[in-house]
Amino acid sequence: MSDKYTTQVIERTAMMHIPTPTVSMPSFNPVLALLCFCALSLGLPNLLAAQDILIADFDGQDYGEWKSTGDAFGPGPAKGTLPGQMTVDGYKGSGLVNSFYGGDGSVGTLTSPEFTIQRKYISFLIGGGKDSERTCMNLLINGQVVRNATGPNDKPGGSERLEPEFWDVSEFIGKTGIIRIVDSATGGWGHINVDHIIQTDQRPPGMRRNAKTTFKSEKRYLNFPIKNGAIKRTVTVAVDDQPVVTNEIELADATPDWWAFMDISDWRGKTISVTVEKLPDDSNALAQIEQSDAIKGGENIYREPLRGQFHFSSKRGWNNDPNGLVFYNGEYHLFYQHNPYGWSWGNMHWGHAVSRDLVHWQELPDALAPDRLGPMFSGSAVVDWQNTTGFGRNGQPPLILIYTAAGNPTVQCIAFSLDGRSFAKFDANPVLNQITGGNRDPKVFWHAPSKRWIMTLYVELNRTHTIHFFSSPDLKNWTYLSRTDGFFECPDFFELPVDDNPANKKWVLTAASSEYMIGTFDGTKFVPETPKLPGHRGRGFYAAQTFSDIPPSDGRRIQIGWFQTETRGMPFNQSMTVPLELKLITTSEGPRLTWTPIKELHILRTNTHLLTSTKLTPESADPLANAKAQLVEIRADFEPDNQSILLFTVRGAQISYDARTQKLIVNGHAAPAPLLNGRQNLVIYCDRTGLEVFASGGLTYVPMPFQPAPDNLSLSLKTTNGHVNVTRIEVHNLESAWPQQ
Ligand code: FRU
Repeated sequence: MSDKYTTQVIERTAMMHIPTPTVSMPSFNPVLALLCFCALSLGLPNLLAAQDILIADFDGQDYGEWKSTGDAFGPGPAKGTLPGQMTVDGYKGSGLVNSFYGGDGSVGTLTSPEFTIQRKYISFLIGGGKDSERTCMNLLINGQVVRNATGPNDKPGGSERLEPEFWDVSEFIGKTGIIRIVDSATGGWGHINVDHIIQTDQRPPGMRRNAKTTFKSEKRYLNFPIKNGAIKRTVTVAVDDQPVVTNEIELADATPDWWAFMDISDWRGKTISVTVEKLPDDSNALAQIEQSDAIKGGENIYREPLRGQFHFSSKRGWNNDPNGLVFYNGEYHLFYQHNPYGWSWGNMHWGHAVSRDLVHWQELPDALAPDRLGPMFSGSAVVDWQNTTGFGRNGQPPLILIYTAAGNPTVQCIAFSLDGRSFAKFDANPVLNQITGGNRDPKVFWHAPSKRWIMTLYVELNRTHTIHFFSSPDLKNWTYLSRTDGFFECPDFFELPVDDNPANKKWVLTAASSEYMIGTFDGTKFVPETPKLPGHRGRGFYAAQTFSDIPPSDGRRIQIGWFQTETRGMPFNQSMTVPLELKLITTSEGPRLTWTPIKELHILRTNTHLLTSTKLTPESADPLANAKAQLVEIRADFEPDNQSILLFTVRGAQISYDARTQKLIVNGHAAPAPLLNGRQNLVIYCDRTGLEVFASGGLTYVPMPFQPAPDNLSLSLKTTNGHVNVTRIEVHNLESAWPQQ
């Protein structure tokens, strides 16, 4: 047992550094006068406040007189973060109560010895789960819970930071109480963190509940101050007193790292309120939220140092999966998983951008925001040409979004639009109930032969990853058809001709990893004819989707993937790959997918450096010695001898083809890239945040996040081994796809 945890008086008063005047002086004493002035101006009550009483600081090896039950609290205070836990901070001294001992699954209680309430306030630091019964700290008097506190987290994500809280216990002065810390929760956030419990007469800086600001909407945007890594605050925006959306936002109490914006133009003239569930007393966050016709700090938008210049990224916040890729009314629509209010994943909205050429994108307001059914997870979009939903008007076919509402339960829903701009959620959502927890990412298409909609959906079934197939006449009522095992998240399913032969079509089932199977589909069941085959061969490519409703006159199958390009220090994070054309070609091993960058990207070319018929040996001069590039596309056709290595250096990135092993090596990452009739062709795109390299006619696609040094504009080409007959090399400088300001 350690003395540290017995209730003790500590030598601490706020005014300790001001000596109390003790001597009465007959004549004027300037020192004493100054001390009195200080005492008065700082407030006499402070000066006279009783000393704080430490209840526990949890800095010892064990819990002392505190008694624990169960396993969750371990043998003594934690020294900080426990194995498997996000970083715990915000505690004082060397230890804290952390019931993550043994993970979230462990349960228990930790109870203080009895103590007498002698001060007006009990203050403490608290973090972890937000469940007032199962992850909490209680003050009990006569066996009754009279005060309760919890951590801030009840959703995935969140923060392990402890924050100051206090209880006003003035009404209980003189009574005996105990403090009990409870962890009886076993799921996510099934733990509680507590530290530094003291009795004090000085009202500690605490938390304001439901801090609110109200104003009339007159401008286009509401700008929120964001501090990356700050505690997430629950922020609700209401219009004329009706709550419209709640987000978890890392609000900056002081100077923000960046500003996030909410488009409020639809509510012009209405009364808007912003309520923050809990905010430190001294936070400046609410005062900083302001309406404006501009995105604050957005003067340089699309010109930021780490903004991909021909890869889509959102103006602000985080993106992950592309969603609802569809061609509608002459525009390509790119929806995407978007956190408009944070640099990391969270608050899933469907972001929205449109393009007429798949190269120049215009970001529009988010199409779907979280609602009572949960955050808006991934899904797809279709044009309902035959108005099977009845949402069409005056012959105008509706655009339908099919998405996952990832609340509890997790369900599938639809929304529709007649103009590709404003979206209404179906009032009888959901259209498909939960099957098992976490079913998600519906990909829907019209199956003409059976004249019905087909949905592929990710379902985890008895710990097996499966894709379920459903059918529907109207997108509102769905019937289970069949399933295929072995694919995780974000399925996509489409038919492609082999070698462009319309008489020989095959179905491709793929999912988030980009692995795929080729087979047949009779409208009910997918029958694979191949094992699961590898997809892309690089890094940072995930959850790709293909476009729906590309006109038959075009007929291409175009895919966009989430390109995991981390952009630290920027007010945005992650991006999309360039659009990729998919084809099936015959190889000696059977049909295989190819990925090639869409031809529309050629419109970005500015000037071109051309090289034809050159033989390169290790002695050759560098043919690209004088070339410079910022944004660049390189195309190379060559015939290597079987000992050769051809090496491109592009702004510091090394891209080589090793003919000895028939491998493409991008910044040290090797991918198989077979020679075709003894020849190889490479296509390299280099942007500010990533490379995309294609080889072997598209059989090899290597996406690779990469940030060239801004001042390194050099290119070079050499053979480090053997001889290479270069047929043709094109180096195209590219312009930005973003609007020039
Ligand atoms: C894939 C994914 C999807 C889900 C979405 C949530 O990256 O996990 O399965 O719908 O992201 O943002």
